Amino acid sequence: MPIKAKTKNKTKNAVTFTLDGKSVEAPTGATILEAAGHNGVHIPTLCYHPKLKPMSSCRVCSVEVEGVDAPVMSCVTPAVDGMNVTSKSPALDKFRADMIRFILVNHPLDCPVCERSGECLLQDSTYDFGITGHEWKTDGHIKEPVVDWGLIRYDVNLCIMCERCVSICREVQGITAYKIDGSGNGARINTVTGKPLDCDFCGQCIAVCPVGALASGIIFTGRSWEVEKFETICPHCGVGCSYNLDVKKGMVARVTSDESIGHNNGNLCSRGRFGYEFIQSSERILTPLVKEGSRYVKTDWDTTLALVARKLAGIKMNHGGSSIIGIGSEVSTNEDAYLMQKFFREVLGSANIDNMSNILAPEFCSRLFENFDGVNCVSSFDELSNGDIFVYIGFDGSNENPVMSNHVRKAIMDNGAEVAVAFSKKAFFLPPPKVRLVYDYPKLYKFVIALLKEILGSTPDSPDLPESVNSIEIDAEWRHNFENACGGIVKEIGPDLGSGIADLAAAIKKKSKPFYIIGQEVQRHPQAAAITVQIANLAKLTGGRIVVLREYCNTQGVNDMGVASGALPGYKKDGAAKRNEGRNAIDILLGGMAKAMVVMEEDVLARHPERATIKDAMGELDFTVVIDSFFTDTCEEADVILPACVAAEKTGTFTNVEGRVQSLNPAVERVGVSRSPWEIFTELENNMGNEFSYGSSDEVFGEIAGSVQPYGNALATAFADYGGLAGGSPVLTWAEPEPIIKPVEDALMALPDRSLFALGVNIKHCPSLRRLDPASYAAFGPADAKKFGISEDDDVEFSDARGKWKAAVRIDEGVATGTVRIPQEMESATLNKITVNGKALDCVTPSGLGKGR
Ligand code: FES
Repeated sequence: MPIKAKTKNKTKNAVTFTLDGKSVEAPTGATILEAAGHNGVHIPTLCYHPKLKPMSSCRVCSVEVEGVDAPVMSCVTPAVDGMNVTSKSPALDKFRADMIRFILVNHPLDCPVCERSGECLLQDSTYDFGITGHEWKTDGHIKEPVVDWGLIRYDVNLCIMCERCVSICREVQGITAYKIDGSGNGARINTVTGKPLDCDFCGQCIAVCPVGALASGIIFTGRSWEVEKFETICPHCGVGCSYNLDVKKGMVARVTSDESIGHNNGNLCSRGRFGYEFIQSSERILTPLVKEGSRYVKTDWDTTLALVARKLAGIKMNHGGSSIIGIGSEVSTNEDAYLMQKFFREVLGSANIDNMSNILAPEFCSRLFENFDGVNCVSSFDELSNGDIFVYIGFDGSNENPVMSNHVRKAIMDNGAEVAVAFSKKAFFLPPPKVRLVYDYPKLYKFVIALLKEILGSTPDSPDLPESVNSIEIDAEWRHNFENACGGIVKEIGPDLGSGIADLAAAIKKKSKPFYIIGQEVQRHPQAAAITVQIANLAKLTGGRIVVLREYCNTQGVNDMGVASGALPGYKKDGAAKRNEGRNAIDILLGGMAKAMVVMEEDVLARHPERATIKDAMGELDFTVVIDSFFTDTCEEADVILPACVAAEKTGTFTNVEGRVQSLNPAVERVGVSRSPWEIFTELENNMGNEFSYGSSDEVFGEIAGSVQPYGNALATAFADYGGLAGGSPVLTWAEPEPIIKPVEDALMALPDRSLFALGVNIKHCPSLRRLDPASYAAFGPADAKKFGISEDDDVEFSDARGKWKAAVRIDEGVATGTVRIPQEMESATLNKITVNGKALDCVTPSGLGKGR
C-alpha cells in the first residue's frame, strides 16, 4: 500500500513526497537525487557531477517510482508532490550493479597500473556492488594507444563515456573543445576539430573525469593514498583561487582542485593547475650570493646580512636615506610587503619605495588611491551572480585572470546574463558575447565618453534612461561639461564603432545590474585615471558595479601595504614623499639621485619597457640587493642576491582582486636556506641595531590589522563586505585629461598580447606550460598584411634602444587595422620600428604614448 504524501503545513516553494516510506520535503524543481540528498539519503551516482547539468549516461542513480515499471534515473527526474520513491531495494542493487557490469565490459581492470587508482568512482562502485571481475565480456578489444594532447592525455581504453569532460568544457569553460565520436563500443572522446587539442588547457576535464581516462600531461608519480593535501592559494594571478598542493615525500606531485574550498568552485586555469614545476626547479637560488668580480660566490646568511646592513647604513650616512630606493613585488605576501616598507621608512628613512603596478600604471593607481580610497573599486565574486550584463573594458577575459570569466559564465548559465567585450583587438570569449567592439586604443577615453553619451541620450533628462540616473543630481555645470566633452566624439571615433557603441549602450540600458570589468588595457593606458573615472560614472549612471582586475596575486595587497610612493599602509598620505614631487622610485633612479637599490621578488628589467635605460642606471649604483627565488635579469645587476622561498613554502597572506585576504599554507620545506622576505627584513633591521622582533608572519599580520583598518576588520568579518562602489561615488571630471596623447596616424600601434600560459618569473620555470607559450611574434590584421605585403612566411625585425631582434609573422583576423600585437615581454617604450621584407614600419607602444608630457 503506497504511503500518501502529507501536504498539510507544506513549506512554500517546496514539494512533499514519500522517500523510502517517509514523507519528505524538497525545494520545488529539485531532482529526486537532489531531494534525497536534501533529506540525507544517499543515492549512488557515476556520471552525475553537481557542477554540471545531468548527463544521464550511466543509470547508476536509478530509483523505483511507484506507478513506473522500469527504474527511473534520479539525477534527471524532478521530485513532484505525492510521488512515492524507493531509493534502496534488492532489485535496485541488482540493477545498479548490472549498470556497472555493462560499463566494465569496456573497461579493463587495470587498477594496479592506473594513476587514478584509489580515487576512481568506477573502482569504488565496482567494489561497493560486490563485483569481483569482468562478469560480462566481449571479444575483439584491442588496446588503443593513449592520445597525447600535450598537457592532457586521453586513454580511450579507460573511458566510460560519462560525458563529464564534454559538459564541463562547454558549460563551465564555454569552449566546447570536445565531442563524442562514434557510438556503442566504438564511442570515444575526440576534439571537435579532429585535430590535436587546442584549447585553454585549464584541465577542468581532468578534474571531473571519474576514472583515469583523462590525465595530466605532467605525469603524476604518486598514488592517491601516498599524497598529503595542502589547501592553499594559487600564486599566479589576482583572482586568488584555492587549490590543493598534493605532496608526496616532501615534493609537490600535482595540483588538484576542490569544489568545496575557496570562491572558485573548483575552477582553475592552466597556470593554476599545471604551473607548479617551478617550486622544485633546479634553477632555484639556494643560498645567499655575493658578487666577487664578475661571478657570484655562495655565502651564508650571517655574513651576507652583516654586509648588506653595513653597506646600506654607510650609504644612508653619506648620502641620506632617500638615496636608497626599493622596488617591492606584486607576488610577495602582505607581511613581506609591510615589513619592506617599514624597513625603508623607519630604518633607512627613505620614502622612495614602489611596486611595478604603480610604476607601469601610474595614472590608474594614483586615481585608485585618491578617488576610490584604494579599495572601493573591488567587488565580491559572490555579487557577480547578481549581474545581468558584464561589460569587459580593456579586459582580455581568456588570458588575463581567466577564472574571473568562469564566475561570469556561471551567471550566464544560471541567470541568462550577457557579456559585452570592448577591446583593442577582437578578443576571444566564449560563449560569443552579445556585443563585441574593437576600439582604437589611443581613443579609449573617448570611447568611454561616447558610451556614456549613448546611454544618456542627447540630454541627461531623456525619459528612457534607467531609473538610477534620475537619482543623480545633474547641475548646469555638469551638463555643460558633458555636452562639450561629447560633441562629435562618435563621429570622430568612426562610424562602425559608433554603431557598435549604440548597440552596447542599448544592451546595457535593457539591464539593471551591469558589472564593468576593468582590465590591464585600461590600467596601462596613459589616460587610465580619466578612463577609470568615466567607467565609474557609467556604473553610477546605470546602477552598476566595477570590478578592477589586478594582474598578479598580490597587486592589491602590495598597494594596501604602502609599497607605493606617496602612500603609507592603508593609503594614508606619506608626507615624506612630498619632496619627490610625484616621482616614483624608478624616476629617482633614472634621475641619477639613487645610490643603492633593494629589489624584492620583482624582475624590474624584464617588466619595465625602458629596460636598457634602467639597466644602465642600475650599473651606476653603489650597491644593489635583490631578493628572489630565481636568477632573473635584474639579478645580473645585483651585488648581493638573497634567496627567497616561494608561496608553496611560505606562511602569510595575499589579498585578491575582491579584497579578500587569504592565507597561504606551506606545503613543502623551503629549498636551500631560502627565507621569506619578512624574515630577511627583520634580521636586516636587527643587524642595523634596531629592534624588530617578529617571530612569525601572524605577528606581522597582527600589526597590519592594527594599522590598516580594513585588514583589522578582516580578522573579524568577511573581507568582501567592504568591496565595491557602495562606499562612495566617483567624481565627475569631464575635462579632457592629461597627458595629451601624441598623434599616431602614420604609425602602427604596437599593443602587448597577454598569454594564458605565461605571467611572471615563476611560470618561466614551468617547462610544461612554457611549451604552450608562443614564441616571439608580431601579429598583423589582414588589411595591414595586404597593405604592407606581409605573409606568415616572413620574419619581422624589431628595433629599439636594446638593439634589434627577430620574430615570426602571424596574420590574425582578430587584430585591428593599424595595430600590431606583440608578446607582453617584447614591449618596449622605445620600440619605434618594425621591419618586414626590408620595409621599416613606424610604430608606437602604449607606454610610448604618454611620453613627452
Ligand atoms: Fe544519473 Fe549517471 S548519475 S545517470
